[in-house]
Amino acid sequence: METIKAVFNGKFDSLKNIQISPFSRAYTFSDSVYEVVPFYNSKPIAYDNHIKRLQYSSNALSMKLDLNVISDEIEKLISSCKSKNGYVYYQVTRGQDLIRSHIYSNDIGLETFGYVLPHNFETKFLKIMICKDLRWGRCDIKSTSLLGNVLSMNEAKEKGCDEVIMHIDNILTEAGASNLFFVKDGHICTPSLSNNILPGITRQILIDALIEIGLKVCEKDYTLEDLKTASSAWLTSSTKGIAPIKEIINLDCNLNLNDECYMIAKKTFDSKFLARSHFDNNVV
Ligand code: PDD
Repeated sequence: METIKAVFNGKFDSLKNIQISPFSRAYTFSDSVYEVVPFYNSKPIAYDNHIKRLQYSSNALSMKLDLNVISDEIEKLISSCKSKNGYVYYQVTRGQDLIRSHIYSNDIGLETFGYVLPHNFETKFLKIMICKDLRWGRCDIKSTSLLGNVLSMNEAKEKGCDEVIMHIDNILTEAGASNLFFVKDGHICTPSLSNNILPGITRQILIDALIEIGLKVCEKDYTLEDLKTASSAWLTSSTKGIAPIKEIINLDCNLNLNDECYMIAKKTFDSKFLARSHFDNNVV
């Protein structure tokens, strides 16, 4: 396997040389936040939004970041990547405890870790499983505490699915690692932001791009019944881009992969954020 470029506490190295303590609070408590920053043609997509969200997440955990240093490291990782298309994973952890303790000490120093990988947005049609949202009450924070997502997505994988769509008492929240959009009665709909949903950057830039061309996206609480009557549905994320759903195994619905609203959304996103088709990639 090709060497993966990484940075740990400011030191650039290959991923395989990085070692962390088992008393890192990321390891014992998932006491950490992260970002996944996609880049295309060696330029980050919606970079400022990612940095703002990292700040929001770290503020929620009372961690003080040096965003200039982090930006510089992310930029260096992008330029060190052999491919022009990919993403940077960047994580900030509260630090290392002397001994495991729920209550953190104020004198520990933050641990930062990032790596870069070549990647292209997903091109396959997704098969989905609906499931209950098992997660905690602050899913708006992009923390590495993702056990609810992990359990549900692996259950879905066993059933031959690529992703889940979660709900709380029939109210749709989001997918395991992406946000949900669907088309109902000719309107593009997405669950509104709340503590139960990650404010996805791809979600927001798609909404903004659609507004720019005069289309409205309806943001409110939607139910499983709404999704049943959808003419198309898709997921958005920094690694998927816009990925259409072909089937939901446990919901009676009829999704059209050629739906006009979906096509407009996809075309709008691609023409705004990808200078060329993402099929035309540059991975070496
Ligand atoms: N996941 N919701 C969840 C739970 C996510 O984990 C993600 C992204 C999104 C979409 O957010 P964005 O558009 O900002 O990528 C929504 C990343 C890609 C991950 O954990 O790998």
